[in-house]
Amino acid sequence: MAGSKKQETSSNLPGTNLQQRLNATVPHNMPLYLASVWQCESTEQADRLLAGELDGYVYQRDRHPNADLFAEACQLLHQAERVAITSSGMAAISLAVFSQLQSGDHLLVSNQLYGRTTLLLTSELQRLGIKCSLIDPYDLESVRNAVTSETRMIVVETIANPLLRIVDIRGLAQIAHAADALLLVDNTFATPAICKPLTLGADLVMESVSKFINGHGDVMLGMLAGREEHWARVAMVNAAWGFASSPLECWLACRGISTLTLRMQQACTTAQAAAELLAEREDVESVQYPGLESHPDHALASEQFINGFGHMVTFRLPGGRAAADKVIASGEIPFCPSLGDVSTTLSHPTSTSHRGLSEQQRVELGITEGTIRLSVGVDPTENVLGNLEKALDEASE
Ligand SMILES: Cc1ncc(COP(=O)(O)O)c(C=O)c1O
Repeated sequence: MAGSKKQETSSNLPGTNLQQRLNATVPHNMPLYLASVWQCESTEQADRLLAGELDGYVYQRDRHPNADLFAEACQLLHQAERVAITSSGMAAISLAVFSQLQSGDHLLVSNQLYGRTTLLLTSELQRLGIKCSLIDPYDLESVRNAVTSETRMIVVETIANPLLRIVDIRGLAQIAHAADALLLVDNTFATPAICKPLTLGADLVMESVSKFINGHGDVMLGMLAGREEHWARVAMVNAAWGFASSPLECWLACRGISTLTLRMQQACTTAQAAAELLAEREDVESVQYPGLESHPDHALASEQFINGFGHMVTFRLPGGRAAADKVIASGEIPFCPSLGDVSTTLSHPTSTSHRGLSEQQRVELGITEGTIRLSVGVDPTENVLGNLEKALDEASE
């Protein structure tokens, strides 16, 4: 419409048309560009655009303005040279591996990754001839020993789900680089508001934008950030494998990311207070929060994180599934099997994110039926603490 000849005569003001009015000023916020294709003025221009000789847009799956603007915001926050936006966090991980690896390569994969990531890396990639070994990312010596001459990538999460262990990004980067491999860090739970893995030596960082970085529970999106030297195949793989993002999701994520730092500040303050409250209660068996001195990785978190210890808090009730059910039934904090919304929510790992693990695997990780994971939002601290106390009081009645 905006570029068509017909529209130029459709103005209801004498002497101007829609295109002239659009050109007179620039909107302060970038509009939502719901265009699957852009109109080219000549075959020569189309040729040059598609060859990459001319900077501009032709087809949404290859590139679009709302993704470019969101990528710029991520680039700034992560201090990255390059960023690609994808349709989901899983698409961002897929983009990382399909752009960097090939058949015959070997991966070292943390044994505490998000379930679908583990499935993709350990099962789907095997079908394509990419081998992988599971590692304990908190034991650097064992990671070093697991490296083979074919290892090309190590994959870890900054803060693991649900026990919130923290990886030593600098240490893992050294091991990866000594083996001529890349370190890929899933930074979803941390976000660049508290951790910037590229500045600690990681080569690639990805995030599920569907979580706290967008922060409003209304978007499905992912991002991959890294350095120029690893970017040769990224745009092509993003377009050819169909991982590309939608403009509406990027537009919403631009609005979300603009308040990320503020939201994270508030969430970290409340999460710290909630963790301290839980640690005081006799009806709570244990609390995991990197901001507590009792957390096994508190010192590492203090060194690697900026501005706080994150918005996730996990705790264990001695009464198992029955106790968790009572907390959920109290309705004080909504039970949502995801994280990173504006409001505080809770999840129950054994019935949701970790239901695929065997009892034995859960025991080894320290996840029980009474384990509850809180995703703290931006609600006033006193409201969150009040709701938490009411839920726990009802559960112990
Ligand atoms: C740590 C982590 N990484 C990746 C993903 C996948 O992201 P998405 O759901 O946006 O595909 C998730 C989703 O829960 C996650 O928690």
